[in-house]
Amino acid sequence: MPNPEATSQDPSHTAASAQPASLPRLGMPAPLFEAVTTHGKIRLDDFHGNWLVLFSHPADFTPVCTTEFIAFAAIAPELRQRNVELLGLSIDSPTSHIAWVRNIKEKFGIDIPFPIIADLNKEIATLYGMIMPGESKTETSRCVFVIDPNGIVRAMIYYPLTTGRNTAEIIRLIDALQTTDKHHVATPANWKPGEKVIVPPPATMEEVDARLKAGFECTDWYFCKKAV
Ligand code: BEZ
Repeated sequence: MPNPEATSQDPSHTAASAQPASLPRLGMPAPLFEAVTTHGKIRLDDFHGNWLVLFSHPADFTPVCTTEFIAFAAIAPELRQRNVELLGLSIDSPTSHIAWVRNIKEKFGIDIPFPIIADLNKEIATLYGMIMPGESKTETSRCVFVIDPNGIVRAMIYYPLTTGRNTAEIIRLIDALQTTDKHHVATPANWKPGEKVIVPPPATMEEVDARLKAGFECTDWYFCKKAV
């Protein structure tokens, strides 16, 4: 039975369990894991204090995945500036990952700077619900988990095998989450840095009065924006 009170220290939701205590949920601690990667053993806890973009791809040496890896490599410096690390994953061996990374360098001239988890026994893919049996029982779909510096799952994106992801959206999402944390605001549809943000809706009559006097740009009592 999933335990909604599970914390990041609770071994019942680590990769060691036969069954995950629960799939990742927004606002809950990300399931802990220790992984074999192209950069050696890595634990989720190693990223404490950093944002993490954990993403899965279906398989090494496939064309859409290759375009995605090149795109992720291109945004790695922009993510670093935002204190964000990248970590890839597929159900492939370390040898396959290494050979593919070397092939991308040789054929496309691109260095892949981030580690890739070799999840041959599907342990982490299962823990994070990355396998969509309706698509494939042997490959992970294109999943993205944004995990904050406290190890909390803040966003999840799922794309099918056939559709490459939009890395500009991943940067936009990080910018939105970091703006929310810094200013305690929400962000509207298609928001980009520099644009006005949404003041969270008031919960009491008192807050309604306070916000209408606060000098925000209000279209109505529930719809106020401000610059940050
Ligand atoms: C690809 O990366 O090209 C791919 C992988 C799995 C299914 C379809 C396409």
